[in-house]
Amino acid sequence: MSITLLAIESSCDETSASILKDGNIYSNVIYTQKIHEQYGGVIPESASRLHSQHILPVVEEAYKQSGILKHQVDAVAYTQSPGLIGSLMVGACFAKSYAYALGIPTIAVHHMQAHVLANLIEDPKPSFPFLCLTVSGGHTQIVQVNSPIDMNVLGETIDDAAGEAFDKAAKMLKLPYPGGPQIDQLAAKGNPNAFAFAKPQIPDLNFSFSGLKTSILYFLQKQDDEFISQHLADLCASIQATIIDILMKKLKKAVIQTGIKQVCIAGGVSANKGLRLALQDFSQRHGWTYYIPSFEYCTDNAGMIAMAAYYKFLNQDFANWETTPSARSAF
Ligand code: KG4
Ligand code: ZN
Repeated sequence: MSITLLAIESSCDETSASILKDGNIYSNVIYTQKIHEQYGGVIPESASRLHSQHILPVVEEAYKQSGILKHQVDAVAYTQSPGLIGSLMVGACFAKSYAYALGIPTIAVHHMQAHVLANLIEDPKPSFPFLCLTVSGGHTQIVQVNSPIDMNVLGETIDDAAGEAFDKAAKMLKLPYPGGPQIDQLAAKGNPNAFAFAKPQIPDLNFSFSGLKTSILYFLQKQDDEFISQHLADLCASIQATIIDILMKKLKKAVIQTGIKQVCIAGGVSANKGLRLALQDFSQRHGWTYYIPSFEYCTDNAGMIAMAAYYKFLNQDFANWETTPSARSAF
């Protein structure tokens, strides 16, 4: 049986639509809302309005690029949780209305599971079980993935997420939002050992980034603007190296605990060049096999929602008309 899906992602500041056929992504259109840059963070009310403004053009473009026709779709998938509630509502209401008009079912997808399954979009793909370090703006998790529909969180952050640590550090350095890509770029020209920042001692496979944030803040408060601008690349390189070290040490611990040596990364921070290199380096040294999605499937995108929905469709796991988005939810 052939399966064709339309998927919508609208959890934060990307409006995205994707068409999938038989497990292959035919299009993945992403509109990034630039308006938030001037405020140094996402304004939820503006995000919802912009989703509602852009969702139809984005869906139109996704159909156009895929060569698939609207009546050929078997189900409509949407991000149900976690995310900004108003933004999620736009995607969910759009998906439900669209599916209702066509007389087809909807599929509700968990955004963090979808980030993990971005690793199944392109070849080579990991086999099961594998571990995934999911690092985004709101979450940091190590996930054991037993199958596309069976995964459990082995550890997660107890305060800030890794992406949040990048963004907050960038804000302290007066870099534009979102700060992660800015730090990534500047870090390439700096010395990662120039400055030392606090690394938390958290038990198990959990993470903490709030101590690092405070240690960066205290350090920067003692410096003047000239020092910061003169040492910007070294500061970025040192901050990035500290975040990567915290992430990779826990990932290594998870590999040792589970004995699973297939390791993936996912989420916006997996676009970070330093983290990608660190994963490559750890894999060579410890005999892991590693997988990293292409850049377009690392940050928020509907392609990953379509892939997660595909496995739910195979499992006949459809949403009800009453299913509503939720800002937060566990797997
Ligand atoms: O997964 P994502 O697009 O959205 C969420 O679900 O949160 O992740 C966004 C996060 C932001 O914190 C952003 O700064 C970070 O990913 N990010 C990066 C890079 N690209 C995006 N962090 C470090 N280096 C990058 N190249
Ligand atoms: Zn995300």
